[in-house]
Amino acid sequence: MNIAKDWKDYEIIDMANGEKLERWKNIRLIRPDPQIIWKDKLFPRQWEKVNATYKRSSKGGGGWIYKSKFPENWQVKYKELTFNIKLMGFKHTGLFPEQAVNWDWMISKIKNAKRPIKVLNLFAYTGGASVACLYAGASVCHVDSSKGMVSWAKENVTSSKLQDKPIRYIVDDVVKFVNREIRRENKYDAIIMDPPSYGRGISRRSMAI
Ligand SMILES: C[S@@+](CC[C@H](N)C(=O)[O-])C[C@H]1O[C@@H](n2cnc3c(N)ncnc32)[C@H](O)[C@@H]1O
Repeated sequence: MNIAKDWKDYEIIDMANGEKLERWKNIRLIRPDPQIIWKDKLFPRQWEKVNATYKRSSKGGGGWIYKSKFPENWQVKYKELTFNIKLMGFKHTGLFPEQAVNWDWMISKIKNAKRPIKVLNLFAYTGGASVACLYAGASVCHVDSSKGMVSWAKENVTSSKLQDKPIRYIVDDVVKFVNREIRRENKYDAIIMDPPSYGRGISRRSMAI
């Protein structure tokens, strides 16, 4: 396992009882994580200083409980990449910080290739990997079936000052898009895929925005 150890704006402060206490820049969150099976907190006092907690409901789902006035969104930086964070339903923040090791790996592969690299990012979500590949000098085709997630990815690209770099945003079902690319004989040097356990296609016709 590779550890994402170069973060300054993100850290896991403590973990216990199926929950983790995290710092996202200056905001502290408690979020559920079923992999945390041990009971004892290392730093019990730290858990009192929290800005929001995601509580699961016994009826399924859950919601955020805010302890103080809370920003609608804020930014975290990883090296020279900037991401916009928002609290979402189902405990999400719009970023998976553990992916930073993969971003570093992609950046080094692209930079070391010493030739133009075309990346296809499938299930691309809010664009963590797209931002990293653009930053490294690749051209990126970013595909996700959620228009909201693609808009969020655009915000991350702009916040990272990469808006003038070559990226194509596609709101479409991955299978439909890939089949079209195969028919068009479009080729890529690298394909990134991080599919969810349950896929969700698009109901309307596909569109590039
Ligand atoms: C787990 S997230 C990917 C996380 C991302 N790789 C990252 O590290 O930031 C899954 C994404 O897949 C998208 N998605 C789910 N089913 C899809 C489908 N059939 N076609 C395209 N996108 C899909 C969702 O909208 C969501 O944004």
